Amino acid sequence: MSRTLILVKPDGVQRQLVGDVLGRFERKGLKIAALKLVQLQTAVVEEHYAHLNDKPFFGELVSFMTQSPVVAAILEGDSAVEVGRQVIGATNPLEATMGSIRGDLAISAGENIVHGSDSDENAEIEIKRFFSELG
Ligand code: RTP
Ligand code: MG
Repeated sequence: MSRTLILVKPDGVQRQLVGDVLGRFERKGLKIAALKLVQLQTAVVEEHYAHLNDKPFFGELVSFMTQSPVVAAILEGDSAVEVGRQVIGATNPLEATMGSIRGDLAISAGENIVHGSDSDENAEIEIKRFFSELG
C-alpha cells in the first residue's frame, strides 16, 4: 500500500469536474484517505513547483494555481503514485492518451486540471505540505 497527493487544480474546480476527476481515481481502485477544498497561498505553490522556477511560465503557473481554490486529496492503494500518473496522463494534454484525465478533458499545457505526485518520496513531502494538520 502506498500514497499519492492529488490536486484538482483551479480550472478543474471552476469547470465543475471534481466529481469526474476523483471518480476516475476511485474507479481505478485508489481510495480517498483525506480530502479538502483549499485556497493555496503563493509561498506554498512556489515551494511545490520550485523545480520549475527558472521556466518562463513560472509566474503564470503560480498565479493560475492561486486564482481560486483547489481540491487536495491523499489517495492510497497499490502503486498509488504510478497508478495516479497513469489516470492523469501526460503533462501536455495533446500528448495525453484518450481515456486519461488530461487526454479527455484538457487542451492547455498550463491548465491541465490535475496534479499527481511523481515519486513515493515526493508524495510524502507533498502530503506534509498540503495536509500539515494531519501531523
Ligand atoms: P504536475 O506536477 O502539475 O502534476 O504536472 P507534471 O508532473 O505532469 O509536469 P511538471 O513538469 O511537474 O509541470 C508542472 C506544471 O507546470 C505547468 N506547465 N506549464 N505553459 C507550459 O508550457 C507549461 N508546462 C508545464 C503545468 O500546469 C504542469 O502540470
Ligand atoms: Mg510534476
